[in-house]
Amino acid sequence: MTVHFIGAGPGAADLLTLRGRDLIASCPVCLYAGSLVPDAVLSHCPDGARVVNTAPMDLDAIIAECKAAHKAGQDVARLHSGDLSVWSAMGEQIRRLKEIGIPVSVTPGVPSFAAAAAALETELTLPGLAQSVVLTRTPGRASTMPAGETLANFAATGATLAIHLSVGNLDHVTGELSPAYGGDCPVAVVYRASWPDQKIIRTTLSRLPNDVPEDVTRTALILVGPALAGEGFDESRLYAADYDRRYRPQSADSPWSGWRHGDD
Ligand SMILES: C[S@@+](CC[C@H](N)C(=O)[O-])C[C@H]1O[C@@H](n2cnc3c(N)ncnc32)[C@H](O)[C@@H]1O
Repeated sequence: MTVHFIGAGPGAADLLTLRGRDLIASCPVCLYAGSLVPDAVLSHCPDGARVVNTAPMDLDAIIAECKAAHKAGQDVARLHSGDLSVWSAMGEQIRRLKEIGIPVSVTPGVPSFAAAAAALETELTLPGLAQSVVLTRTPGRASTMPAGETLANFAATGATLAIHLSVGNLDHVTGELSPAYGGDCPVAVVYRASWPDQKIIRTTLSRLPNDVPEDVTRTALILVGPALAGEGFDESRLYAADYDRRYRPQSADSPWSGWRHGDD
């Protein structure tokens, strides 16, 4: 018996890995984390499966479900939205399960920042503008931030910021980021990326607090940084005609000229 943690993706039913889908279909118990996991993903559960929404449960109750399944010899599909490596609360569940000797596996999912970038048809690391993406959030009712992890500190790097769990904190976002990025810095807010009611709001840091509609109160990602303009960037060297590389040696003297596909 194993508890399979599975990233359920950003919302669209077909943004689930094949491995995740097959695991869900093989588990007689499914624990899913609330409304961000769509019904279409749950439809992969086998007939007669015990399907439990864990949103109203505490950690003890979730672990009790896993223990009961363990006793019955039943595998569990444990679904969280997006990918499990960020803000999934998987860490504390795995710690408890390992303490009591219940085996786990982890299957990644499509994270919401990737779904938001796809909705914008944007690369977040554009040469000459940004080569790093910071996945972060602002402090919330249930979560404080470690001292160094302020938006102002991240802004000092000039990276593209993917700010989660913060659409209720727009004045804070603008206040912290404007000194480094400037009020004209492009911002995109993507609400419910990949869902049928997805919304995209393109704005600037200074206009952000006024431009986000009042009904966008959760499940939105705020992307900030020069790369969001989608212009003024360099072409990558990767596809430059004169770039000497393994797959396209430019001369007989190239260190790559004797290399054949599969050599490394
Ligand atoms: C608890 S975190 C879960 C993050 C998730 N594990 C991931 O990989 O993206 C929830 C936050 O992720 C973001 N989020 C999740 N799904 C989203 C979506 N479909 N569109 C936009 N933002 C989303 C929002 O910022 C939301 O407040």
